Amino acid sequence: MQKLAARWKRAGKPVGLVPTMGYLHAGHLSLIKRARRAIGKNGVVVVSIYVNPTQFGPKEDFPQYPRNLKRDLKLCRQECVDVVFTPDDKDMYPAGSSRRDDRTARCAVPTDFSTYVVEEKLSQMMEGASRPTHFRGVATVVAKLFNIVQPDVAVFGQKDFQQAVIIKRMAADLNFPVRIIVAPTVRERDGLAMSSRNKYLTGDLRRQATVLWRAIQKARAVVEKSGTVSAAKLKTDLEIWIGTEPDARLDYVEFFDSDTLLPVSKVKCGTQVALAVFIGKTRLIDNTRL
Ligand code: PAJ
Repeated sequence: MQKLAARWKRAGKPVGLVPTMGYLHAGHLSLIKRARRAIGKNGVVVVSIYVNPTQFGPKEDFPQYPRNLKRDLKLCRQECVDVVFTPDDKDMYPAGSSRRDDRTARCAVPTDFSTYVVEEKLSQMMEGASRPTHFRGVATVVAKLFNIVQPDVAVFGQKDFQQAVIIKRMAADLNFPVRIIVAPTVRERDGLAMSSRNKYLTGDLRRQATVLWRAIQKARAVVEKSGTVSAAKLKTDLEIWIGTEPDARLDYVEFFDSDTLLPVSKVKCGTQVALAVFIGKTRLIDNTRL
């Protein structure tokens, strides 16, 4: 992959990268289209598919995470992706791979791999507070992908708002010569943000999962009506709205500044909101600008 990237560089072809963990859906495909638009006809679009063990916690869903490479490759072909990069664990974390069985050892971090990228400020809150080693894993694998694919442009989804902000900061702090584009969240008709994890939502859970978007819309209506409102009060309201679904449990909801990710005490037009909710055992996230 690195040799290929060097060849493209010599030929003057711009490279666009869309990093994914596969099980592709329309949200991923919108990023691919955005990458193509950014680099033009002469450019090369690379999609990476890799379920990165280091960004999952020990009790998280790494072993069950949905995978279907055949279907993903078909979708990539339809989108005219030039290269699909599908490294395996021994490519990405070489030394430890012999000691690990992915499906049973629950993503033990390879013992001989010891260099990580740690963003120290923006990773503390929200997803970082609930999933302490998550962003270390994300930043590390994305840095590795940037070094391997050497993209001019990389596209990420607004769906993972905090992730996109952290990657922008990492690229700036570590001088990666890449432009980061953040593309809007693609939703199902009923508002549920598309996610590979939606596959876990069977039966009535799928209906209950729309409560994230419904609650966000209710918060939006309150702000539209009242102008400025107390974040504490709106958080309590949101918790109640989420609680109306029998299998839903709020992990966190935060109203915050979209650049610093710092919480605000007053919510107004333009405030960013993000939340994480368990629907049964499935943890879903969503966010929007009010
Ligand atoms: P994954 O969850 O597969 O998502 C890959 C990219 O697709 C991310 O940038 C994510 O924000 C974006 N995405 C997911 N759902 C979306 C939706 N409904 N609309 C628009 N974009 C959406 O995020 C990851 O993988 C990993 O953390 C990764 C960055 C690949 C590092 O391992």
